[in-house]
Amino acid sequence: MAKDVIIACDFSSKEDVINFLSKFKEESLYIKIGMELFYAEGPSIIKEIKSRGHKIFLDLKLHDIPNTVMKAMSVLSKLDVDMCNVHAAGTVAMMEAAIKGLTREDGTRPLLIAVTQLTSTSEERMREDLLIQEPIDKVVMHYAQNAKKAGLDGVVCSPLEAGKVHDTCGKEFLTITPGVRFADGEVGDQVRVMTPAQAREIGSDYIVVGRPITAAEDPVAAYKRCVTEFLG
Ligand code: C5P
Repeated sequence: MAKDVIIACDFSSKEDVINFLSKFKEESLYIKIGMELFYAEGPSIIKEIKSRGHKIFLDLKLHDIPNTVMKAMSVLSKLDVDMCNVHAAGTVAMMEAAIKGLTREDGTRPLLIAVTQLTSTSEERMREDLLIQEPIDKVVMHYAQNAKKAGLDGVVCSPLEAGKVHDTCGKEFLTITPGVRFADGEVGDQVRVMTPAQAREIGSDYIVVGRPITAAEDPVAAYKRCVTEFLG
């Protein structure tokens, strides 16, 4: 199974991304593009990064009625991204529609993963704002099972949840885990973090790493360190 380090390119302009990517001379990278950059620059940013030989995780977290998500996904599948995502809270029917829209005429499609509960949502907010009374880890595992039932490839989760997701949904079901920090690095605003080596031990399939690489004095060295620690 492919394991990889995905770099979260949380830049606000094309210029900043290209400047960052131009530091890498030989490496073929896996880049996460989020809403901010995609909404600012549009599909041309995807074409630009793909033309440099990199893979793309387009992190737009779709959540709407099934028909709308299906149509939006069929547009994204033409962009030639390698991974994209939806909110599992959109229901199994919405996730099935997403897969349908994403699948090209030749049967191929980008990987599709689900966001379970956002890590910014506490159990208290779930209970009081969303009227969800179950414990948060039960909700996360249930959403992961729904994603599997709908035919998705995996979920975004905390590295701390990756082992349990694999136990619940099987080893082949992908875990994509942010919240990764070097043992001697800044934690910043992340609360529950793991090192790349710990993420590997616990069975993460892809780690999503932003500032430890993008804000490093030497991003290429930081990326290489991350790959070495994660892939072993
Ligand atoms: O800079 P840092 O390594 O904290 O970046 C982590 C990336 O993963 C960011 O793009 C952030 O939005 C994303 N993410 C996260 N936690 C989640 C879901 C996504 O940190 N639960």
